[in-house]
Amino acid sequence: MGFRVFCSNSMTLIWGTLVVFLFVYALYVLLNIHKRKRFPPSPTGFPILGHLLLLAGKNPHQHLQKLAKKHGPIMYVQLGLVPAIVVSSVDAAEKFLKTYDHMFASRPHSEASQYLSYGQKSLIFAKYGVYWRNMRKLCAVHLLSNHKINSFQSMRKQEVQLLIESIKKEAHDCVVVDLSARILSLNANLTCLMMFGKKYMDEDLDKRGFKAIVQDVVDLASTPNLGDFFPFLGVIDLQGLNRKLKDLSKVFDEFLERIIDEHVEYHDRDQTKDFVDTMMDIMQSGEAEFQFDRRHIKAILLDMLLAAKDTTASTVEWILTELLRHPQVMKKLQNELQEVVGLERMVKESDL
Ligand SMILES: *[C@@H]1O[C@H](CO)[C@@H](O)[C@H](O)[C@H]1NC(C)=O
Repeated sequence: MGFRVFCSNSMTLIWGTLVVFLFVYALYVLLNIHKRKRFPPSPTGFPILGHLLLLAGKNPHQHLQKLAKKHGPIMYVQLGLVPAIVVSSVDAAEKFLKTYDHMFASRPHSEASQYLSYGQKSLIFAKYGVYWRNMRKLCAVHLLSNHKINSFQSMRKQEVQLLIESIKKEAHDCVVVDLSARILSLNANLTCLMMFGKKYMDEDLDKRGFKAIVQDVVDLASTPNLGDFFPFLGVIDLQGLNRKLKDLSKVFDEFLERIIDEHVEYHDRDQTKDFVDTMMDIMQSGEAEFQFDRRHIKAILLDMLLAAKDTTASTVEWILTELLRHPQVMKKLQNELQEVVGLERMVKESDL
């Protein structure tokens, strides 16, 4: 069994957290531009805590939506010592995320991002600026280029074939198949092969398994951390979150260090270069125009590992679910497959 994926609910939480952080940062920028001229409308808050209690409870987004109905689509709230803007209409969101995106695209400091991205070195958590642009370019050119992605085509074909063969056999024996689990496993296998050149199993990361670890990441990253709202409380770590974040980052770090060490040992293989090989080459050639060492490699690997988990597998799972719910669409798809591909061969990537 390979890595498992965390549920898409958690992804919503991550995005929710990111969005809150984005708004926190948005206000920093707004304040600088307008030199504290005017705040957007704001509900009354408590002294010191401000509107922090709005984030407590189960559905903070619903509280915020109710308040926005009263105070408008651009609303000011104070989260502890941190000023923040809540944006609640399509128009306003478009202004922040599209029209003025370059001003609001950055990521603020947060305790979680410190621990989970080697001090904001990953693409997910890095501040918007020269470093982020260079890093993104490097990933786009060396890791995510068509050429690179195509170089893994035969590997992908082989893995999909394995899955099809085993389902065929199980269908023949009338065995029940948990397709969701298989898709997750396929996704984990493909991700590992592309990034690390070999499959890693759940227990290679930690005895608790990948799924539990990633769930911890999501939970910790989405729990409001007092240290983020009252920076002087960060050191005291009243909730014990930072200690847990540190433990988690150690689990990932040891795993990634081991992988990099293994690559250093067997560097000149004929096999298609995986992501680690490619980044080791960049590190050794010095072609990155910025500092690029093991920490940067690990930060990018962690980005890709976390990003690859949920997205693809749950999309495929949803597509299959909807097809089962709509037999006439399934029929149409089957007909199209017969006409375009035929029943003699497997679907190729070039058919898509
Ligand atoms: C993923 O790889 C493991 C180890 O080779 C294998 O046992 C498992 O069946 C693979 N998963 C899928 C869906 O092919």
